[in-house]
Amino acid sequence: MANEKNEWGSNISFLLAMIGSAVGLGNIWRFPYVLYSNGGGAFYIPYITAVLILGIPFLILEYGVGYNFKSSFPKAIRSISKKWEYLGWFLPVAIFMILVYYISILGWDGFYVILSAFKGWGADPNNYFTNTFLQSTESVSGIATIVPIIAISILAGWFILWFISHRNLEDGIGRVSKALVPLLFIIMIGIVIFSLTLSGAGIGLSQLFNPDWSLLGDFNIWMAAFGQIIFSLSLGMCIAFTYASYAQDDSDLVSNVLYVALANCGFENFAAIGVFSILGYMSLQSGVAVPDLVTQGTGLVFIVYPEVFNVLGGIANIIGPLFFFTVYLAGITSVLALLEPVSVSIQNKFGWTRNKTVTVLCIVGGACSMIYATAMGSYILG
Ligand code: PFF
Repeated sequence: MANEKNEWGSNISFLLAMIGSAVGLGNIWRFPYVLYSNGGGAFYIPYITAVLILGIPFLILEYGVGYNFKSSFPKAIRSISKKWEYLGWFLPVAIFMILVYYISILGWDGFYVILSAFKGWGADPNNYFTNTFLQSTESVSGIATIVPIIAISILAGWFILWFISHRNLEDGIGRVSKALVPLLFIIMIGIVIFSLTLSGAGIGLSQLFNPDWSLLGDFNIWMAAFGQIIFSLSLGMCIAFTYASYAQDDSDLVSNVLYVALANCGFENFAAIGVFSILGYMSLQSGVAVPDLVTQGTGLVFIVYPEVFNVLGGIANIIGPLFFFTVYLAGITSVLALLEPVSVSIQNKFGWTRNKTVTVLCIVGGACSMIYATAMGSYILG
């Protein structure tokens, strides 16, 4: 039964929404590179340490506090001390700024779902992405030029976010998470299995996992492991706090945390296997060594992957759209979680309805994100 208040209809909605919030762009385009460039197999020692001593305990803490306060983060701070309420607003404001750029990248990806069906980037994906699609310039005059296709792609993302979020919690985020999160995992598993069948996959994987034990004494790889866990589990951003504040009274928070950590870390390791199998294949086809192909972020998704699809033959017309669609699913379930703490903070503060709050936030956010639809957008985003 849908609930009029902000409350999950079942524990499974809560759990899948949390997994959806954690699994995002960071798992697909950030983790594989972090693993590779920080000691490969040896990275698992700091990584597992970070999950055990930071990820899981911090999530339990954040869940516990949110579950007990059953309110927005600023309201919780206010209930402790009125004069510190303003501190509680820093997080929702910061998250809103993250949301505005995160959804812009998602907009690019949405366009690539369609483009990849006919490899619309042509023979030179780098040139297409930078010059034809983004029309990227570092000159300040670029700020006055809106690139219509990017504006439309970004606004489509805001529309989808609004469409899901303005409904009651269970009718919107709850139902969508139950449908999309399993779908995301199923498609990802399919893509990874396909990648493993490619010739050269082993080359990529041996590069990825080849352990460099000498790095274990390097402070930076420990920092990289803790940084990855903070980013990918979205720790300390009052997302887990907010989602747990909607939990039903009998929710088993600790088990939920363990499932979320397992699903999130499982997903990113799985993604790394897929990414490096594909890079191994590319290396075999192009004669370029894997280390010269490896990159992260937009370079991986919008340049290297299209280059791979160009040499992959006809099957790329299916795998390509599936890949970009997977990134889109991972991103959408994360932007739902990024909007939520902001939305409930405003609902609590001003007594607005969920519908009104989400509508206003999506209009304001959509307008702000138009900065990333200008020719200078990717420069500013960078
Ligand atoms: N954890 C998600 C990801 O890894 O993409 C979403 C996310 C939330 C990323 C908040 C970054 C962030 F600051």
